[in-house]
Amino acid sequence: MKKMNVFLCMLLIVAMVAACQPKTQTPTAPAATGFRVVVIGKSVHPYWSNVEKGVRAAAKDLGLADDQAIFFVPPQEDVAAQIQTMQTYIAQGVTGIAIAPSDPNALEPVMKQAAEAGIIVTTLDTPPVENSVSLVYIGTDNYAAGKVAGEQMLKLLPNGGLVGIGRGSDTALNALQRTQGFLDAIKGSKIQTLEPVNDREDSARALELANSVLSAHPDLAGAFGVYAYNGPAWATAIKEAGRVDKTKLVCFDATTDIINGIKEGVIDATVAQREFDMGYKSVQLIYLIATKGKDAAFQEMGVKGGVIDTGVDVITQANLKEYEAALDKKGIPHEWTTAGWEPQQDEVDQWK
Ligand code: BGC
Repeated sequence: MKKMNVFLCMLLIVAMVAACQPKTQTPTAPAATGFRVVVIGKSVHPYWSNVEKGVRAAAKDLGLADDQAIFFVPPQEDVAAQIQTMQTYIAQGVTGIAIAPSDPNALEPVMKQAAEAGIIVTTLDTPPVENSVSLVYIGTDNYAAGKVAGEQMLKLLPNGGLVGIGRGSDTALNALQRTQGFLDAIKGSKIQTLEPVNDREDSARALELANSVLSAHPDLAGAFGVYAYNGPAWATAIKEAGRVDKTKLVCFDATTDIINGIKEGVIDATVAQREFDMGYKSVQLIYLIATKGKDAAFQEMGVKGGVIDTGVDVITQANLKEYEAALDKKGIPHEWTTAGWEPQQDEVDQWK
């Protein structure tokens, strides 16, 4: 009996010593085991490939495996595809979903379904509806940025004139808020605007529409490109119409073709967003919420009023060099292309 007690005591000591040993560290933090985040964008475009670069960079910095940070975009603006993709990942029980809702009203019910299933839901690039289940919106203050674009146009057209507007959505809040900001900035001036034309994030259609606006209004004084491919579409149409010095062009974003347009002098100014940061911070925030809790995550990331404002840069020929140097310093790429970049095909196939 005594022998048995001694043996049991020894066993207990061995077990206690083992429990006190430091656990072997895996490359991923223990709390991240089983962590999966999905970032859902809007279309196949260099703008979104740069968002994906941000997603990848964050995953690398956080020690996540490739399949722990998933990125998805439909070929072009497609609300049904976004909804279906959300449903797929809700069923898989991922940790968090960050989405750029092409139509915030249409996406809210499925976002709610995700939140009710315990998934962390945030938005990026395009804000959600008011009182959304989205915990945080990470992106540009689109109304303010639209105003910045309008102010650039005011400087370019001091004597006023007719301005055309091309955009990729009549429902996405970023398109609506940018347009409103632009219109408010030029209010009371001699600038007049045409009804915005909508290409649904189809760049070929954007060019057709820009061409038809220019042929209907051959004396067009200015053009405003609301989404990333609208500037280049206007630039091509303006060049083809032989109006490079006559039609002033203000647009959004700083993809390679836009930068080339600025160098050539066909694009006068662009409002560059910080979409790399939108991708990076979406992954970082969801990771911090999952591992440290909402309050600590919000504090660490500086969330204010449910928003992380990523900010914008206005680029013209005059400051292009400094802008590119600043990106280089931060290690953010600025040769943007979709070459070699495709949305994850297996996911595209799921809703085809
Ligand atoms: C917008 C995105 C859009 C992208 C490409 C950007 O300006 O912020 O919502 O998908 O352009 O069209």
